[in-house]
Parts: sequence; C-alpha cells; structure tokens
Amino acid sequence: MRELVFATNNKHKLEEVVKATSGKFKILSLKDINCNEEIPETAETLEGNASQKSHYIYEKYGYNCFGDDTGLEIDALGGKPGVYSARYAGPGHDHEKNIDKILSELKGISNRKARFRTVVSLIIDGKETLFEGIVNGKILTERHGKAGFGYDPVFMPDGYNKSFAEMDINKKNEISHRGRAVKKLLNYLNSI
Ligand code: IMP
Repeated sequence: MRELVFATNNKHKLEEVVKATSGKFKILSLKDINCNEEIPETAETLEGNASQKSHYIYEKYGYNCFGDDTGLEIDALGGKPGVYSARYAGPGHDHEKNIDKILSELKGISNRKARFRTVVSLIIDGKETLFEGIVNGKILTERHGKAGFGYDPVFMPDGYNKSFAEMDINKKNEISHRGRAVKKLLNYLNSI
C-alpha cells in the first residue's frame, strides 16, 4: 500500500481523513515520520501555506504528502481575517478574542456575507495538485451555540437557520469547507 503523509498536528482532521480513505493509501501522521518540528506557515495566501506544508515534508522527508490551510473571508472586511484567521486578535490563537474582534469590526455593517475556504495541496511523486472547498454564509451579530470551534458560533451557512456551533458535527462536516475540500482530495486519490 502506498504511504501518504497528512501534514497536520490536528488529531481530529487526521482521523476524519483516515476513516474516509478507501485503503489504497496508508495515511501517516507527522508523528509517524518523526517530524516533531513546527512546519513554517509564512505565506500570505491559503494556497501558499498549504503548499508550503506539503513541500516541506516532500522535500525534507521524501514522502508523498498533503497539507491544508483554512481561512474565514468576510466581504465587508476586504476578505479578512483570511490567512490570518487563527491569530487575528494576536499571536495567542484565542478564538474568543478573534470573534470579539470581527464582531466589533462589523458593528453597524449590514453586509455580513462571508465564506470559509479550505485549500489542500497534495504532492505525489513531485507533482502538486490543489483542491478547494468553500461554504458561503454570513456573520451573526452575536454568538449562537456551543459546539465546534473557532468562529463556529458566529457563522451561519447559507440555506440553514443555525450557526455551525448549533449544528450536529456530522451535518457540519458534510457541508463544511474542509469536508468539501477533503471530498475532492479523496475522489482524486481513489481515481489514481
Ligand atoms: P486551520 O488552517 O484549519 O488551522 O484553520 C485556521 C483557523 O481558521 C482556525 O484557527 C480557526 O480560527 C478558523 N477555522 C478553520 N476551520 C474552522 C471551522 O470549521 N470553524 C470555525 N473556524 C474555523
């Protein structure tokens, strides 16, 4: 079976992908290949960061690999926080402060349109392929729900009257940016 590294330290993401692969590829974690260092994420786009992660592993460790990056893009803020979503309110990666910051910046603004966008970069035998998953929605004026993480309490996907934090996790995964990008990646892996 061919081996493929998922360049993430997030256990939940890893489990999700391992469950969904059809057995053609054995998914390895960073731990499995003894990669314990922080992989640089210094690009200014989601594409750049996803690509930086997969290239790092392919070039330094010699494994076929994929990496991902996600951002929340808010129209009225010119696409921010985007690639800076995790650290929008500072380097502490504090989800509550990040939410407070976007709510304050959107105060009194009626255009609440936003989207989550995930980019996956896959490198197989030196060839890179990108996959994108998007979910469109809007930013609520206050928090709703306790589930999920990050900006989930203030993001309501189009076509639903619940925030991501009020949704069942399976439902969220089915329609989410990451779910959609990973589905495209898996279709591709299962086709080659
Ligand atoms: P990552 O690239 O998956 O680590 O995501 C970067 C940041 O985007 C996270 O730290 C969160 O702030 C935000 N984010 C990513 N995915 C989600 C999601 O499904 N719900 C809410 N926030 C998310």
